[in-house]
Amino acid sequence: MSDSPAGSPRLTRRPEWTALEDHRKDALPQPDLRELFAADPGRAERYVVHVGDLRIDYSKHLVTDETLALLQELATATGVFGLRDAMFRGEKINTTENRAVLHTALRASRDTVIEVDGENVVPGVHAVLDKMSDFANRVRSGEWTGHTGRRIRNVVNIGIGGSDLGPAMAYEALRPFTARELTFRFVSNVDGSDLHEAVRDLDPAETLFIVASKTFTTIETITNATSARSWLLNGLGGDEKAVAKHFVALSTNSEKVAEFGIDTANMFEFWDWVGGRYSYDSAIGLSLMIAIGPDRFREMLDGFRIVDEHFRNAPAEANAPLIMGLLGIWYGNFHDAQSHAVLPYSHYLSKFTAYLQQLDMESNGKSVDRDGNPVEWQTGPVVWGTPGTNGQHAYYQLIHQGTKLIPADLIGFARPVAELGDELKAQHDLLMANLFAQGQALAFGKTADEVRAEGVPEEQVPHRTFRGNHPTTTILATELTPSVLGQLVALYEHKVFVQGAVWNIDSFDQWGVELGKVLAKRVEPALTEGADVPGLDPSTAALVAAYRNLREV
Ligand code: F6P
Repeated sequence: MSDSPAGSPRLTRRPEWTALEDHRKDALPQPDLRELFAADPGRAERYVVHVGDLRIDYSKHLVTDETLALLQELATATGVFGLRDAMFRGEKINTTENRAVLHTALRASRDTVIEVDGENVVPGVHAVLDKMSDFANRVRSGEWTGHTGRRIRNVVNIGIGGSDLGPAMAYEALRPFTARELTFRFVSNVDGSDLHEAVRDLDPAETLFIVASKTFTTIETITNATSARSWLLNGLGGDEKAVAKHFVALSTNSEKVAEFGIDTANMFEFWDWVGGRYSYDSAIGLSLMIAIGPDRFREMLDGFRIVDEHFRNAPAEANAPLIMGLLGIWYGNFHDAQSHAVLPYSHYLSKFTAYLQQLDMESNGKSVDRDGNPVEWQTGPVVWGTPGTNGQHAYYQLIHQGTKLIPADLIGFARPVAELGDELKAQHDLLMANLFAQGQALAFGKTADEVRAEGVPEEQVPHRTFRGNHPTTTILATELTPSVLGQLVALYEHKVFVQGAVWNIDSFDQWGVELGKVLAKRVEPALTEGADVPGLDPSTAALVAAYRNLREV
């Protein structure tokens, strides 16, 4: 494989890369966390970085000062900082789509100037936020009424991918801050049962649909929105005028919004420089803003901005997203780790990992570099996980005693939410004890000698021995507030950025999802009409035939 056109060596031929390979070999079979802590107990304090309200402890990683220094050298050599600055300046770093990448402008303060094609985009961002605030306040106060004059009590967001996962995740995360008298539902799946279950107990006269789609062409969303419109009109006597009071749109595509029949006065816009998976702090967050109110929404944006500024300005050795990104590279590229677990010890973060799956896997699931050459190195990991302690009773066994190396993030909060009663609040220490215990067990395990010392029969010793040495990052904050949620999301956004920059891939396109979309449209007539679809491979043709037969039974 030739070197890149820009003249810089391919990633794996860079001296900074080979230095890391050598460093890895020197420590074979594995740096040992017990030994690392015995030799250097100070790492427990030294390998901690603070950003905003987050305390990020990376001491339980298979790294030394030397590893970290070598990883930093790789970041410098691969131009992470230059690309970061270009992103913040609004340069078109999404090269395959020729777009700027400016989710950071969505949380910039009013007086910031960020130009795209010579135009400052920040006033537009705040104009939309103001329009959203006005609308959210009117819905929350009951001033915005439905077609029959009844107040809105139910809000249904229809969207998919980035137009669903962000608001759905954040709504769940911030439930204690939401207007409890309103009902919020999130519909994404083109499986009709998703919409059915979302609306079956709702009164159309009191229901507002928010159709969220950057492109306004996504088939799942348009199909669900069309069905929702029928449901509404059926329930309200068929007067088309009802749509104006019960449907609003969040999109970049006003033409398609108008074509669908939504008044563009009821459209909240965003821009092509906001990627779908980076969009829930844009107009896509309208459902969340109605839920938590404009002030809380702005607190969340402030949280994002704290981490943006940190990522932009903090020195490399204390830069949290940079360190987290580089640690992921250490495992994925130098230890063959295939996946990364994100394990929140907060039930409110039950959708956080699913949200991160799109953020990370749609961004960094790439196999050609920015110049179109196949990569010869691993790119994004499989991201997975569910809230602790549920996972402990399901799949942690494999992390503890299986054969795979699975780095994990443990996320927890010092305080339970304020509205819990005393008895439930008291459970919080037990929840957090589990987090700390898991981090400890994963890192330090239990040696055969320790097992024997407990009097365990010899034949059982191997089964009860824990190798340990499983790396974790522990992210701790006081409590899960809107600002802290913004901080957490921005932390992961920039972590993903760092990794994409090192791997020299375009983290901001998603061509890989296109093929399935095109094929679904092509196959559909074979299912509905039995049409003879040209080019259907024999296996798929047989499946379609079986489906049609079964359907008739
Ligand atoms: O899955 C592909 C994708 O384009 C995502 O990137 C995006 O978040 C999702 O579809 C929804 O797209 P839209 O907001 O345009 O409906």
